[in-house]
Amino acid sequence: VVRIGVVGGGQLARMMIPASINLGFDLAVFAEEEGSPADLAVSQVGNYREADELEAFARTVDVLTFDHEHVPINLLEALVEQGHKVFPPPQALELTHDKIVMRERLAGLGVPQPAWFTVHSRSDWDRAVESLGGSCVAKVPTGGYDGKGVRFVTEWDDISDWISQGPVLLEQRMNFTRELAQLGARSSTGEWATWPLVETRQVEGVCSEVLAPAELGAKESELAKGIALKIAESLGVVGVLAVELFHTDEGIFVNELAMRPHNSGHIFTELSATSQFEQHLRAIAGYPLGSPHFVAKCGVMVNVFSRFDHAAWVVGDGISSRVKVHDYQKAPREGRKAGHVVAVGESQSPLLASARETARKLGDARYDD
Ligand SMILES: Nc1ncnc2c1ncn2[C@@H]1O[C@H](COP(=O)(O)OP(=O)(O)O)[C@@H](O)[C@H]1O
Ligand SMILES: [Mg+2]
Repeated sequence: VVRIGVVGGGQLARMMIPASINLGFDLAVFAEEEGSPADLAVSQVGNYREADELEAFARTVDVLTFDHEHVPINLLEALVEQGHKVFPPPQALELTHDKIVMRERLAGLGVPQPAWFTVHSRSDWDRAVESLGGSCVAKVPTGGYDGKGVRFVTEWDDISDWISQGPVLLEQRMNFTRELAQLGARSSTGEWATWPLVETRQVEGVCSEVLAPAELGAKESELAKGIALKIAESLGVVGVLAVELFHTDEGIFVNELAMRPHNSGHIFTELSATSQFEQHLRAIAGYPLGSPHFVAKCGVMVNVFSRFDHAAWVVGDGISSRVKVHDYQKAPREGRKAGHVVAVGESQSPLLASARETARKLGDARYDD
């Protein structure tokens, strides 16, 4: 039996549980605290920043993977040196830990991305702004998620608090028509499979909805797949890779990367023959990859924020029986992702309407029209 170890007990680890059951893999989760979304599979609770605890966990499994990108890279390198399988490997994972490292490495690969600067000081800022134009996007290189750590900025004062903590990534503000995500998976044997491109919609920097397939010309779709493959192969990624993209009149540009199942891929659980969780487990176990083909013409995913209200089902109205629900079993908190809903079928706009209505009923849904 393949024993998979997941560091982190969040919703991504949670959604790996049914996939592992179907594949006949054992899944063990190293959670930070009791009562995490992945509680069902938790075998150890502790601090993943402690080498001893991480090593103890690694010894109980065949391959180690992740629910989040917070485990220090040097600890993972030590595990690899001791002979443990860590997927994605630390040298690839490093890009998702630090957005400045990511920009440097992507530049080295010749991948299209927004113009960018590393800002340490006021003089760096002046030089960067002169080149980028007045309006740019500042990012804290590490630890940001869901738009936390991203600001649209025009003046030095907008980032002076961040600079005191360390360097800031300053990017050209992209005038995008849409945001897209290209997801794929690379197995430990080198096999590669991609899902069709999806469109992601963000409200205030947080993913709120995903539509699939994204409508894009054949040439740009191929380009997106080519970018993902280049990143996966040159970095030696193993597992699911998500490439967030900006689509502009000038073409497509890479926003950022994730090397694990990603919010933009939740839609595949219903829409594809193979979910991103199943594909991730297959990839890191060195099993043949599953088919990424769509089993319906199209689909939509709508995130449910703040709470996931089961009482809404008792009333029932507004909850379509065709909409599939995913409750992360998180403690309610304003604005946090509490779950998502997916609807698949023949035509996007009625699916979106019923998925939004269901999401609104269960918790908060966010969208602008
Ligand atoms: N260079 C940019 N130009 C325009 N919008 C951006 C840029 N960078 C980020 N954004 C917006 O902010 C969102 C969050 O930024 P991102 O770097 O993906 O951070 P997070 O790690 O929080 O997902 C993006 O999805 C996009 O909507
Ligand atoms: Mg992002």
